[in-house]
Amino acid sequence: MSVITFANFKGGAGKTTAALLLASELASRKAEIVIIDADPGRWISHWGALPGKPDNIRIITNVVEDDIVQHIYAAASQTQFVIIDLEATASTMTANAIGMSDLVVIPTQGGSMDTNGAAKTVRLIHNQKRVAQRSIAHGVLMTRTSAAVASRSFKSVRAQMIEAGITLFSTPIVERAAYRDIFDYGGLLRDLPTAQVSNLENACKNAQSFTAEVLSQLKAGLEQRGSHKVKRKRAASGSVDDLAGFRPRDWPIGAPVRKPPKVQAAENPGFRSRRTGRTAQLNLKARPDTIKEFCDLADSNGWGLGETLEYAVCLLQRDYGKKIA
Ligand SMILES: Nc1ncnc2c1ncn2[C@@H]1O[C@H](COP(=O)(O)OP(=O)(O)OP(=O)(O)O)[C@@H](O)[C@H]1O
Ligand SMILES: [Mg+2]
Repeated sequence: MSVITFANFKGGAGKTTAALLLASELASRKAEIVIIDADPGRWISHWGALPGKPDNIRIITNVVEDDIVQHIYAAASQTQFVIIDLEATASTMTANAIGMSDLVVIPTQGGSMDTNGAAKTVRLIHNQKRVAQRSIAHGVLMTRTSAAVASRSFKSVRAQMIEAGITLFSTPIVERAAYRDIFDYGGLLRDLPTAQVSNLENACKNAQSFTAEVLSQLKAGLEQRGSHKVKRKRAASGSVDDLAGFRPRDWPIGAPVRKPPKVQAAENPGFRSRRTGRTAQLNLKARPDTIKEFCDLADSNGWGLGETLEYAVCLLQRDYGKKIA
């Protein structure tokens, strides 16, 4: 129901690690999670093959450009949290995942390469916001920071983000051996062997704080998107321990601002029913500016008109499907 994507076009920024930490923390609070592993390294899939993966985490692997939209749509309609670990590439897959996200987390280690990657990712998010015609919450997450001191690059990234008006998670992900060990041992962070893994308690606290911020941002994003005020009771803080009932998409704040357009097919049955293989021709009457916007969207993304309609249907089903059914 909530789609959270980890993206940064710079490789090695900490996307996979942060994605797994979030999944681990949510899973230990009884949430249901699907992880879409779109990282060519398949690290989360390897982790999932080790002993200790709980049943409330399901991993979808071997995701390709052609099927990611369908995977996200299907997972989001069945599961509380969909976590997407993206490749470090600007691709149609990345753009589609971002366009379907409720929150995009942009892990960044500081330094100009990571920061440039983060800036490019933010630009893509802004483009996808226009395509999806809705806001997409996003924030930069500092990773691999020192537990002891705030480094010069951390301070400089913070200053740059504030200047650019980009949200920065106030919890950085500290450099911890536990965050590497989880990929070797398997299982949840909290279940790692304390005798072998140094400073596990602090590692868990860090993952908890990050998760609490993600939950707050999801709520804030939904509040911003909705036309109704969230009920106080349902807007409990992100620090709740049991997430079994956390279904923000079901909150009234997710109600649409605009009614779905009435799509009226032309009466001419010759157009509606003529089939060629799996496709059929559809003749629609629409305002010229709507048609132009539709064609511009298709052209700017390099999609065919039929493909663009499929994406539009996916988004409509996601946002209005329950009400139509
Ligand atoms: N907080 C952390 N503490 C310790 N090691 C970390 C931390 N974050 C990331 N790493 C290590 O940094 C390396 C890169 O991290 P990770 O694979 O998460 O980045 P990525 O952005 O997913 O990379 P890619 O772009 O290749 O998919 C890995 O070796 C990982 O173990
Ligand atoms: Mg990765």
